[in-house]
Order: sequence, then structure tokens, then C-alpha cells
Amino acid sequence: MPTEFELLDLEEAEIPGDEWEEIDVTDTEADRIARKRDREFEQFEKRIKDADQFKVEQSVFDDATFAALYKLVQDGHVEAFGGPISTGKEANVYHALGDDREVAVKVYRINASNFRQMREYLEGDPRFEGLGGKKKDVVLAWVKKELANLERARAAGVNVPEPIAAERNVLVMEYFGDDDGRAKRLGEVQIENPETAYEVVREYMRRLYAAGLIHGDLSEYNIVIHEGHLVVIDLGQAVTVHHPNSRDFLERDCTNVAAFFTRQGFEVSEADLLEFVTEPKPDPTGA
Ligand SMILES: Nc1ncnc2c1ncn2[C@@H]1O[C@H](COP(=O)(O)OP(=O)(O)O)[C@@H](O)[C@H]1O
Ligand SMILES: [Mg+2]
Repeated sequence: MPTEFELLDLEEAEIPGDEWEEIDVTDTEADRIARKRDREFEQFEKRIKDADQFKVEQSVFDDATFAALYKLVQDGHVEAFGGPISTGKEANVYHALGDDREVAVKVYRINASNFRQMREYLEGDPRFEGLGGKKKDVVLAWVKKELANLERARAAGVNVPEPIAAERNVLVMEYFGDDDGRAKRLGEVQIENPETAYEVVREYMRRLYAAGLIHGDLSEYNIVIHEGHLVVIDLGQAVTVHHPNSRDFLERDCTNVAAFFTRQGFEVSEADLLEFVTEPKPDPTGA
């Protein structure tokens, strides 16, 4: 077990400015590939469908999802697929070989997605003004949001996976793991030094908040340990401070984090954590 949880150095971080990037959610190249169905794509789809690691998914991955994977391969972001790392409620995560390193490929299953709830998480987000209510559009916006959130978090000095590419309902990002497999979640290990780990998590929450973002599902399940560093993952649902319920989400994150560290033997007060995270006030506050 690592005894140090080194905090990411803030010197390299550029704090985002006041502007919020607009995110394009128009039709994707993957949909066009799926419609066109040329021979090469058909062969790719058949090969992937026959591969062991995708056997279970055959029925839940639609043609356009295979087309998205195909596009990511063609663009050189993925060279070979490994096994599944996680099969979640709405997304499956796979280990894969990327351009020059290992990557994690997160595939959202559009049909399994609770898009009504997803829609609610996009509320008030200046990056998604004018997004309609169509299920597919919402899931595609979600993936772009996850990528944008990872970029923003990184820029703010939070240790998160580097986002590599987003194609339709598929996100490719930096992979954390070693010979024993994927990096362990905070909740899966025995922590010797909960106080140090807590201080890092608390600081990352504050940096995220200062960049105008609230994780919204922060707990010991969405923090992994890699080479002695804590990495915050799963930023799809992260909302901007403009969200009407952003305060509730932040309070819930604080509750989860405080409860976890308290269980680890380092007593943390939810109120103290909330105060730490929200001081100083977020910048940007957006429009
Ligand atoms: N970049 C990554 N590197 C290594 N493992 C990852 C990565 N991203 C996700 N995982 C693993 O996959 C699991 C599910 O991913 P996550 O993004 O949390 O999706 P979900 O929405 O299903 O919770 C995580 O708990 C973690 O164990
Ligand atoms: Mg998760």
C-alpha cells in the first residue's frame, strides 16, 4: 500500500477563465458510417461481434455503436480491444490498446440509459443550451460533457484520466492499471493513512468547485489509486455551478466523502468539508 497520496502540482494547472465552451451535439460520423455500411465496416463489426470480450454485448450494442468503435480504430485512438473492466448500469468500460499506450474505452448503452435523469443533469449547463429531449441526443451530449468535464478538471489541477476522444456514445481516456489489472477503487483497499488521502480528495473537490464544477457522484467508488496517486473518475454527471440543484449535489458529495473517511477512522465533518470546498467562491460563475 502506498503511504503517500501526492497531490497533483497546481503549478502546471491553468485555471479556466470565465468562458464556457460550447459543445457541438450534431449528428456523428459514426451514424453516417453505420448508415453507409461499407464492406470494411461490416467486416469490422463481424470481427468484434465474434470476439470473446464482446460476446455478452452483442445484443445491447447497436450498429451505430460498432460504427463509433470502428471510427475510433480508424482514427488511431484504439488499436486493439482487451477485456471488460466494468459493466455498469449505463456504461461498460473496456481495457484497450491505444495509439502508444493503454486506454479505457467507456461505452454508454443508449437503450439502458436513464435519459430522463441524464437530461436533468444537463439543466442550466451553459454548454448545452438548446439541447432537445431526444434520448439519443441526450446520451451523446452526455459523452461530450464527460469529455469536457475531464478536460476542465485537468486544467484546474485535478488528477483525472486524460480524455483522448469521444465518438457518439463512446469515450476513450487514459487507462489506470498495472499487471494486476485496473487500478483499485479507494473503497477496495485498506488505507493506512486516511488523513493524507482525505486532504487530497478535499483539495481536488475544492479545485473542481473553483473551476465551476461539482462531481455529483463522488465517493470511494469513483476515486481510484494509481501509483500512489488518487485519481478522480466518472465525471459524466458532473454539473456546472449553474445547475439548479448544484448545491444539493455538492452537499451529497460532501456527505459521502465525510462518511467514508469517518468509517476509515479519520473523523471528518461534512460541514467542515463543505466550507473548505466552497471557499473561495467559484470562478468562473459563467454567464
Ligand atoms: N480510466 C480508467 N482506468 C482504469 N479503470 C477505470 C477507468 N475508468 C473507469 N474505470 C473502472 O471502471 C469502473 C466504472 O467506470 P465509471 O466511469 O465509474 O462508470 P460507471 O458510470 O459505470 O460507474 C470504475 O469504477 C473503475 O473501476
Ligand atoms: Mg462510477
